Amino acid sequence: MGNEHDTGISRRDFAKVSAAAAGFAILSGTAQAAKAKSNRDTLKVGLLGCGNRGTGAAINMLEGKNNVKLIAMADLFEDRLNSSRNKIANNKNPEVKDRYAVKDDHCFVGFDAYQKLLKTNVDIVIEGTLPYSRPKHIEAIVNAKKHLFTEKPVAVDPEGIRQVIAAAEKAQELKLSFVSGLQRRHQLEYIETIKRIHDGEIGDVLAMRAYWCGGLPFAYDRKPEWNDLEYRIRNWYGQCWVAGDNIVEQHVHNLDVCNWVMNAHPIRVFASGGRTWKPKEEKYGDIYDHFDCDFEYENGVHLTSFSRHWQKCGEGVFEDAVGTKGRSNCMSIGAWKAPGGENPYVQEHIDLVKSITGEGPYLNEGVRVAESTMTAIMGRMAAYTGQVQVWGKALKTDLNLVPKELDFAKAYPLSPVPAPGSGV
Ligand SMILES: NC(=O)c1ccc[n+]([C@@H]2O[C@H](COP(=O)([O-])OP(=O)(O)OC[C@H]3O[C@@H](n4cnc5c(N)ncnc54)[C@H](O)[C@@H]3O)[C@@H](O)[C@H]2O)c1
Repeated sequence: MGNEHDTGISRRDFAKVSAAAAGFAILSGTAQAAKAKSNRDTLKVGLLGCGNRGTGAAINMLEGKNNVKLIAMADLFEDRLNSSRNKIANNKNPEVKDRYAVKDDHCFVGFDAYQKLLKTNVDIVIEGTLPYSRPKHIEAIVNAKKHLFTEKPVAVDPEGIRQVIAAAEKAQELKLSFVSGLQRRHQLEYIETIKRIHDGEIGDVLAMRAYWCGGLPFAYDRKPEWNDLEYRIRNWYGQCWVAGDNIVEQHVHNLDVCNWVMNAHPIRVFASGGRTWKPKEEKYGDIYDHFDCDFEYENGVHLTSFSRHWQKCGEGVFEDAVGTKGRSNCMSIGAWKAPGGENPYVQEHIDLVKSITGEGPYLNEGVRVAESTMTAIMGRMAAYTGQVQVWGKALKTDLNLVPKELDFAKAYPLSPVPAPGSGV
């Protein structure tokens, strides 16, 4: 059972770190966006990060029958921007095509593309780049007073998490809407089921499980024309500083559901992990292929989590809560099955737009996505170091994995895969 002393954080600091979360819980249901636009105003959307998910998120925003136009796009690489543009402009869905209005002078490439996009008159930015660049982008988007949809995870290290929490607090002050790509939070099955769990239908939650066990999503060979940095970013999954390792990159979804059920984040974690099947080839990067974590919440509940990328092995992506009166996979309870709703990838944008126009509750999901990302980072830190990690101490560390300078002319050698006990 954890106590405040175990978290390695003083009462004052704890209050500070968790204030934003509590603030969110209170404010989300009541506050109206100060800058709420009427639903007659067409909101202008900019897409930052025009890869697979960024393009998908923009399409989801446009197909959701929202009163929006996509007017600006930005990416590090021109080829990614062009293929995304083509996919949206020539989309088979007329709802998407009608809402596409991107002119050449509103397309930007390079590491400073986000700054140029923020100088346009967009109202909403969809952040679809990669975890390494999100804290900086999120901070800049909020400073530019734009509403935000960001993909997850929002950082790869505690320094990035602190930056995102500060930005979320600032968004709250400015009444900017902030929605994250933890789409289960916008999925009716989860919403209805977790509401019943909170209402006591399975009794007191005694234990939880969360799995993301599947194969490796991708690992590209280096093309001759790719320098180190371009290769690291295009082959992003394998580099810890770019994407945070698999526990952060994908398992964050399941950990977030558990935090949602518990209405809290864990306070400590003990973990194992390693790299079992992947050869030491550059394309597989410097990350592990499995993590096994025992997280503990402040009330003593334990969460067993497995995150692994093993080819041709058993798969499973789910969450599970066991209570004193029953159990739930967070989408049903016993014979009761929650009703299905809109595609959550579309619903999250509908909810964002309604938050901005005032047709729905004000949403600021910044702190909770940061806390769920930090939960995953803490699991990774526990496995890399072989040491128990406690929330307050882990969140306060200076760990910053992202190189200070990103320059295509410089070398970015691959880091060694950390042997358990030797990593950070
Ligand atoms: N919510 C979900 O279910 C879900 C599903 C898939 C992906 N994702 C998330 O979406 C993100 C992107 O994944 P993807 O599969 O689209 O990858 P991707 O490589 O296809 O897209 C990433 C894009 O970001 C661009 N980019 C990288 N650094 C940039 C920078 N500094 N400035 C501007 N652009 C930059 C890249 O050039 C690329 O076009 C990941 O964080 C991933 O976790 C979420």
